[in-house]
Amino acid sequence: MKGIILAGGHGTRVHPVTLGVSKQLLPVYDKPMIYYPLSVLMLAGITDIQIISAPDQLPAFRRLLGDGSPLGIRLSYARQDTPRGLADAFLISAEHIGDDSVALALGDNVFHGAGFAGVLQEATRQVKGCVLFGHPVRDPERYGVGEVDEHGNLVAIEEKPASPRTNMAITGLYLYDNDVVDIARGLTPSARGELEITDVNKVYLERGTARLIPLGRGFAWLDTGTHDALMEAGQYVQVLQRRQGVRIACLEEIAWRMGYIGREDCYRLGRQYATSPYGRYIMAISEAG
Ligand code: DAU
Repeated sequence: MKGIILAGGHGTRVHPVTLGVSKQLLPVYDKPMIYYPLSVLMLAGITDIQIISAPDQLPAFRRLLGDGSPLGIRLSYARQDTPRGLADAFLISAEHIGDDSVALALGDNVFHGAGFAGVLQEATRQVKGCVLFGHPVRDPERYGVGEVDEHGNLVAIEEKPASPRTNMAITGLYLYDNDVVDIARGLTPSARGELEITDVNKVYLERGTARLIPLGRGFAWLDTGTHDALMEAGQYVQVLQRRQGVRIACLEEIAWRMGYIGREDCYRLGRQYATSPYGRYIMAISEAG
């Protein structure tokens, strides 16, 4: 399975902080935002990932993450000239996807919860149709919203409905079989001129091949869409990390624990940032084995 991280857009809801830097490079406490969706794909076992962003922002992502080889993964980069919608990702990355299935992660979504890696690895094992992840929220009208029947089957999806029928938001992590490229090619832009991911999902729903995995109450799906949400996401990460002494979305640790790199490689990566607590954490955990 291939991976895509969509990290473009104008970030207008958090202006002026995004006037000089891409939103997905802003810190969520101790690491850049894109580390979080990247960690999700890595935990799913996906190691060939394309990062899409605006042409003027790509150099910064490249400077941050390079070709991925120190983490034992392959990262490539592609440009989105204007934010034409989330489903545009499948057109931009068609060559990268090739004949494979694909996971799309939005560059501004933060996930955290016990057992998530297992859920992901199970869900990505064989994707027939699409797999969506739902999370209950207080303000579903801000998101794509899913409705399931009494057996847990997905029966409806709506994008930012004025009167949502459920509180189950569709999160920014989507798994698709290879049909997604052709489906995206056949879309017509919505009223706001975008190729909507919800329209892709509706095609799968009509085919009867859309699945929704609910992420329950013990799970955190954090928003970074507003100044307050961004700060709260940072506070969540800070509180958890300080309390537990483990780090969320530490790419070097994940690369090592997933077997993409060895323990000594991990230690060496940590030593590069030995002046920061992040680097010292990596050194400490790889030393402890
Ligand atoms: O976060 C989950 C939600 O993401 C879903 O529940 C919605 O169904 C889905 O439409 C999307 O809604 P948003 O309103 O959050 O989408 P937004 O336009 O903010 O884009 C999400 C991220 O993708 C953001 O970091 C910017 C980036 N993006 C967006 C567009 C439209 C791009 O890189 N390129 C684009 O063309």
